[in-house]
Amino acid sequence: MTTMVKVDDLVKHYGEGEDRITALDGVSFELEKATITAIVGPSGSGKSTLARCINSLVKPTSGRISIAGADPATQTVEKRRTIGTIFQGSSLQRRRTAQRNVMLPLEFAGWKKADAQARANELLALVGLDGRGAAYPGELSGGQKQRVGIARALALLPSVLLADEATTGLDHANRASVLQLLRDLRAELGLTIILITHEMDAAREIADDVLLLADGRIVERGAIRDLVLQDSKVRGNLFPARPHLVATDRHNYRIHYARQNVPLDWVARLSQRLPEPLQVLGATIEELKGEAVGYMIVANTAGPEELARAADGFGLQIHELEAVDA
Ligand SMILES: Nc1ncnc2c1ncn2[C@@H]1O[C@H](COP(=O)(O)OP(=O)(O)O)[C@@H](O)[C@H]1O
Ligand SMILES: [Mg+2]
Repeated sequence: MTTMVKVDDLVKHYGEGEDRITALDGVSFELEKATITAIVGPSGSGKSTLARCINSLVKPTSGRISIAGADPATQTVEKRRTIGTIFQGSSLQRRRTAQRNVMLPLEFAGWKKADAQARANELLALVGLDGRGAAYPGELSGGQKQRVGIARALALLPSVLLADEATTGLDHANRASVLQLLRDLRAELGLTIILITHEMDAAREIADDVLLLADGRIVERGAIRDLVLQDSKVRGNLFPARPHLVATDRHNYRIHYARQNVPLDWVARLSQRLPEPLQVLGATIEELKGEAVGYMIVANTAGPEELARAADGFGLQIHELEAVDA
């Protein structure tokens, strides 16, 4: 395994004295080559500050960053190819065609015009926009614009691609196609991808690992598959408690899937082992890399011990919900 990104005890303060804000408060992590990591967290938790430190747009107060073994801040423009960035809303220049937007970083790096044009066309083909080079941003959909942004970010062959809220604001179909493109690029180019987002759904769809930020610190980190199966903060964010029915004359339970391959007919099978069938009061079940994950709210006359015995072996995690006053 090759470590591609190393962030070591990163601290960032904005302002001075009483107005000082600690946006990052000692953040450390390492990312392996060809992984997709989602950095998630609520608004104000420090995600964009972390992104800007990683791509050298902001100078950290203290701490170290290395990308592919070198500090990106000390590199020349020519060498800053180690990291490419995609921004929210793609930030294309409106008066430049798609092709000329992609050519921008190549022009900065001193490429000859003909070479830059040829390279831009290759990149547009790579992101599925073959033949659209002459289109202006205004003639492209949100998802297509974001693809141009990705082609531009890849122009100087970076080993790391950083996306800060790259899918925020896109409709469902466009978002899905951009996420699929990022997945394909990881597979084809071995890119290490950092996806910064407040949309947990995007993280769920493509990330291998999740890193949860709160108040400038990493409060949870792990493989997304493991975190949704554990009683984790990430799971709480992915499957927030929703209002549901309550059976006032029975025990009420929240049942989580605690491992993969929970049998799909578990409700029927568990019901047969109980004094009465389970009443289903609510459910949030979603797919994660082909597996069902989520939770169900159920009611039954069986008490917690009886239910736990009956459910033994199904891979479920059972929490009794507090009785509510009728
Ligand atoms: N340029 C800035 N000047 C002063 N404070 C900032 C600046 N950028 C961000 N902050 C503050 O730093 C904290 C983290 O912000 P940010 O990194 O944008 O978080 P996120 O992207 O998770 O919403 C917030 O309290 C925010 O108000
Ligand atoms: Mg932000």
